[in-house]
Amino acid sequence: MFNLILFGPPGSGKGTQSANIVQAYHLQHISTGDLLRSEVSRQTPLGVDAQKYMDQGLLVPDEVVIGMISNKIDENPDARGFIFDGFPRTRGQAEALDKLLELKKTQIHLVLALEVPEEDLIKRLVGRGATSGRSDDTEEVITKRIKEYHAKTEPVAGYYHAFGKLQRLKGDNTIEDTFKLLSAEIEKHLQPA
Ligand code: AP5
Ligand code: MG
Repeated sequence: MFNLILFGPPGSGKGTQSANIVQAYHLQHISTGDLLRSEVSRQTPLGVDAQKYMDQGLLVPDEVVIGMISNKIDENPDARGFIFDGFPRTRGQAEALDKLLELKKTQIHLVLALEVPEEDLIKRLVGRGATSGRSDDTEEVITKRIKEYHAKTEPVAGYYHAFGKLQRLKGDNTIEDTFKLLSAEIEKHLQPA
């Protein structure tokens, strides 16, 4: 198995590049943002509760997202590996993920962190807001999401750095060039020298 985390602030390209990586390497994509938006659109009890946080640009409580991830891993026993997009976002989530993967006798192999200047993030997300229909793609909520990222999520990079699993990459090239950088890192790990 090969398990990858695509890490980075809101708008850094995690969703865009996940789609490219899934196509090239046939990993199972798990995006907590997509899973939560699906719960919201179906107005499940979990979705109704999560929406209150999402609309304010705040993180949904750890136990909610950890439960969703656990289910998703269990639903895909034959996956070649997983690509985690937008998860983990707190140290508690990172520790819970390690435990879930340990139960499956596997682990996180690589964390690729996309780095993009803040003004580009805002430009990208405001641009996406014109068509995405996402209630959190307004300039006010985008600013809050970025603040929440710095406060709670950025420290998660240090957690993986301590295990030697973190690789930072420039994420403000074109989509194609960024994918080339990501692929080069993935292939180093898929075929160790
Ligand atoms: P989530 O859905 O994860 O959103 P996010 O992290 O804020 O990030 P985005 O999806 O907005 O950006 P992205 O990095 O995927 O970029 P994308 O590829 O789309 O989370 C939403 C909310 O759900 C959170 O605020 C929270 O409430 C909750 N939540 C989710 N997970 C959670 C968790 N684990 N714990 C707690 N709460 C959680 O690209 C953005 C735009 O830029 C697109 O228009 C794209 O076309 C464009 N673009 C991409 N790459 C490039 C490029 N190289 N050049 C130019 N444009 C580009
Ligand atoms: Mg996304």
